[in-house]
Amino acid sequence: MRRTLIAGNWKMNGSRDSIAALLDGILSGVDEVSAADVAVCAPFVYLSQVAERLQGSVVTWGAQDVSSHANGAFTGEISADMLLEFGCRYAIVGHSERRQYHGETDTVVADKFAAAQVAGLIPILCLGEQLEERESGVTEQVVARQLDAVLDRVGAEALAQGVIAYEPVWAIGTGKTASPEQAQEVHAFIRARVAAKAAAAGEAVRILYGGSMNAGNAAQLLAMADIDGGLIGGASLKADDFLTIARSAAA
Ligand code: 13P
Repeated sequence: MRRTLIAGNWKMNGSRDSIAALLDGILSGVDEVSAADVAVCAPFVYLSQVAERLQGSVVTWGAQDVSSHANGAFTGEISADMLLEFGCRYAIVGHSERRQYHGETDTVVADKFAAAQVAGLIPILCLGEQLEERESGVTEQVVARQLDAVLDRVGAEALAQGVIAYEPVWAIGTGKTASPEQAQEVHAFIRARVAAKAAAAGEAVRILYGGSMNAGNAAQLLAMADIDGGLIGGASLKADDFLTIARSAAA
């Protein structure tokens, strides 16, 4: 049985004050959310603030990126061990914004996945096609290429210890959500591809949907057989909306 995960990706948003208020809001309602694991992924500089405030609560937290290197002369990078020292649980790897604006290749993403996992973090691997790729009918090829880079690097069993997030790039921050059926189709494809390597791993791996998921559409998306949660951008910056999405997991 795959337990639902609702994770907020705050991206490069917030300040000490707004994050304090957001965490207060989430903590005030999260105890009613029992059907899902709840996590927030904050900008690096706020992680210790987040760790402190969430200590002892059911809400866990993660980083939005992690270095593929363990330590050394990599100016500006943050290692998985540094994150773990603060109690970090998750690290997003391969978000489309990092692939698109920071030149992260499939190989770099696979290295980051492996580095995070070896250190003891749970990597959240983001995959997804661009609009032109969907329109030209190559969604499955794109997603398969991104997935295989990690599958070939770490193997199906290790991949299944992490989390996958299917995030069609055309749905991110656009208000244009994949329909539950469109998302389900790709989620089933991803699961089958992992299962082809190891059946139990395919069954176990959690596959989140991300891309304009909000309080209004979450329940329908989360009701699909292969959608095991959400990676939420914009709507995770409002405590009420984020909690509504987390509560939708039980519906
Ligand atoms: P939005 O929910 O703002 O579309 O962002 C999704 C996303 O990129 C989560 O990682």
